[in-house]
Amino acid sequence: MITSSPQSAIQSVVEEFVREELSAENAHIAGAVWNMLDAGGKRLRPRITMLAARACATSASEDPVLASYMELIHVATLIHDDVLDNADIRRGRESTNHALGNRFSVLAGDYLFSWVFKKVTQGYQNPVPTILAAMLAEICNGEVKQLRAAGNARLAPDGYFDIIGKKTAELFAACAECGAIAALLQTGSSAGPQLREQPAVRALREFGRSFGMAFQVRDDILDYTATEAELGKPAGSDLREKKMTLPLIYALDGGDRTLHQSVAELFALEDPDAADATAQRARTIEFVRNSGGIERAAVKAADFAADAEAALDRLPASPERDELQRITRGFREFSSP
Ligand code: IPE
Ligand code: IPE
Ligand code: MG
Ligand code: MG
Repeated sequence: MITSSPQSAIQSVVEEFVREELSAENAHIAGAVWNMLDAGGKRLRPRITMLAARACATSASEDPVLASYMELIHVATLIHDDVLDNADIRRGRESTNHALGNRFSVLAGDYLFSWVFKKVTQGYQNPVPTILAAMLAEICNGEVKQLRAAGNARLAPDGYFDIIGKKTAELFAACAECGAIAALLQTGSSAGPQLREQPAVRALREFGRSFGMAFQVRDDILDYTATEAELGKPAGSDLREKKMTLPLIYALDGGDRTLHQSVAELFALEDPDAADATAQRARTIEFVRNSGGIERAAVKAADFAADAEAALDRLPASPERDELQRITRGFREFSSP
């Protein structure tokens, strides 16, 4: 059976979190986490974790708990990300930092990470906890690198790919890899780092990594092309934060002097909410939209999605592999210019 909705599993793990942490007098943190989960989201990471498990070992029974931990890690990174990006809306609601402040959000995100790690290290054998710890370090690395690259109009595509690989693709890679490893452990394989070398585990990790790259390029395109109502988070926020994403990098690569000047003027402005900054930003977005940078980024996203599909082709046929292929194809179709 294909599990396409990990919703109820997540619900019960979150209820466990809220129950445990309420009794530990952390009602505020429990409330903030509950609010993020209740607001929805696509639940892509737990879905991929569960599908990867069955695509690796068809006889494995589902492990919705590991999948739920992946969603909670994602939620914690979103709470931190909104602090870093000064975001005020997340999943269509007021973001945690906006509602409860940056200081609270940093601690709430840290708390959630710690809770998940306490659980994972109790419940999963080597190498799952190691993979998750390394993944989290990479996410932090990626976010720091991105912060340092803000306002650097000379950031090259490779610098950008390095950042998104760390901040976004590593989590998808870990979902697919750990889903697969958990399934192997459950079906009798012995624990240990050698599990990472199994061909199906390697293929799934590579799938998750390429999928994550396509996913973030798409997210960065949507920031230029979609509306807040469509996204459930503000559009145009990357430029507001002077974030160098692929549509802008490719647009600048076209060498248009007007665009270069427009970006330089925008990045020199202090207050992103002042009227001159807002007007300059609107002009720059128009330039980017007309530069061909978005179409070029879409081709790149399609390439990553094709790599993800090629990795799936290395797995034995199964309904879960087909489902992963369908999810990926959705991104590829979007990505065609
Ligand atoms: C948002 O991820 C963060 C990125 C890596 C772009 P999602 O777009 O999957 O967010 P939710 O879970 O659906 O809210
Ligand atoms: C997401 O990147 C990165 C992480 C969540 C670690 P973005 O900053 O583009 O995500 P959104 O657009 O705020 O969801
Ligand atoms: Mg953000
Ligand atoms: Mg974004």
